[in-house]
Amino acid sequence: MQIKVTKTQNPKTHPTGSLGFGKYFTDHMLVMEYKDGAWGEPEIKAYEPFSLDPACSVLHYAQGVFEGAKAYKNEAGQIRTFRLNDNVDRLHDSCERVCIPSFDKKLVQEGIEELIRVDGDWIPTGEQEALYVRPSVVGVENALGVRAANNYLLFVILSPVGAYYENGLKPVRLLVEETYVRAVRGGTGGHKVIGNYAASLKAGEIAKSKGYDQAMWLDAFEHKYVEEVGAMNIFFVTKHKKVLKVLTPSLGGSILPGITRRSIIQMIKEKGIEVIETAVPIKLMAKMAENGQLLEVFGTGTAAVITPVGCFNYQGKDRLVNGGKMGELTTYLYDTLTGIQYGKIEDNRGWVKVINE
Ligand code: PLP
Ligand code: COI
Repeated sequence: MQIKVTKTQNPKTHPTGSLGFGKYFTDHMLVMEYKDGAWGEPEIKAYEPFSLDPACSVLHYAQGVFEGAKAYKNEAGQIRTFRLNDNVDRLHDSCERVCIPSFDKKLVQEGIEELIRVDGDWIPTGEQEALYVRPSVVGVENALGVRAANNYLLFVILSPVGAYYENGLKPVRLLVEETYVRAVRGGTGGHKVIGNYAASLKAGEIAKSKGYDQAMWLDAFEHKYVEEVGAMNIFFVTKHKKVLKVLTPSLGGSILPGITRRSIIQMIKEKGIEVIETAVPIKLMAKMAENGQLLEVFGTGTAAVITPVGCFNYQGKDRLVNGGKMGELTTYLYDTLTGIQYGKIEDNRGWVKVINE
């Protein structure tokens, strides 16, 4: 389908210097409205503020979902998306979880690809830089009854970004959170629902006030098993009786099924290393860190890419991981994943789609 594109009359100046994360936005956005029981056609137009009625449903009951994907540009000028179809699938699943009507996934993916092409000259090409793609779907009916809205807005914005964590690849320090929980099985943690992120803010602020980068979440029932970190899934590289095993929390409905997580599990297995998706007891990880059996810890996410964890604090005690440095497997996975994304390593897994050829 030909997507309607109306170019901006006022192109913005591109940022110079450090991009940070999610601070700058490109010239255009994609919008698609749902009203009278059906989705309309997607349209690309100038990036501009929305006008929302104070009674707009998402402002009251948070019926909304979002996604995060990235597009890259290589030296030859190829625009490359990474597993964008999986992000669109997950957006669709998240909508279903909060009663947002089903949309045409193929059409939305085509719309996002067209938007990226339209703003293709915004894709930054520096070290660790990419164009972050943020689709959202929110309820926009002006009504205060607690029920699914009748009107929705699907919109996609783009942001040229650098590393998610300020210090780039410097290993992060995490504080294991034992009081607050992010999500609970049966809740919405397994979907990218906007309220999950509001629920996570307090522990993140506490962690920062104590000198840590983020909170590490435990399960909501027993506070014993690791779940994930603010914006990333987590992996523990262990060595016991000379056998290397990678543990990562199994998905049980409260953990986001990360697309990077899925990619990394596949890459580790292909390297011949065992990956076990299981309940990961925090006590055991702390013990293994102390007796040298925990070799590496890292997080995975679209924004976070692969972020080494240099230390985690559990019950008031810092546990150093790999002397606070990025480990060997973490480095291999980072180099391979980013190599595929930026086009320096051939993609033989069907993850990358070149969208401007
Ligand atoms: N966990 C949470 C809570 C997230 O918000 C994200 C980011 O999307 C992830 C994990 C990583 O998921 P993905 O690799 O699909 O970006
Ligand atoms: C992502 O990695 O895309 C995320 O959505 C995480 C965060 C920025 C919320």
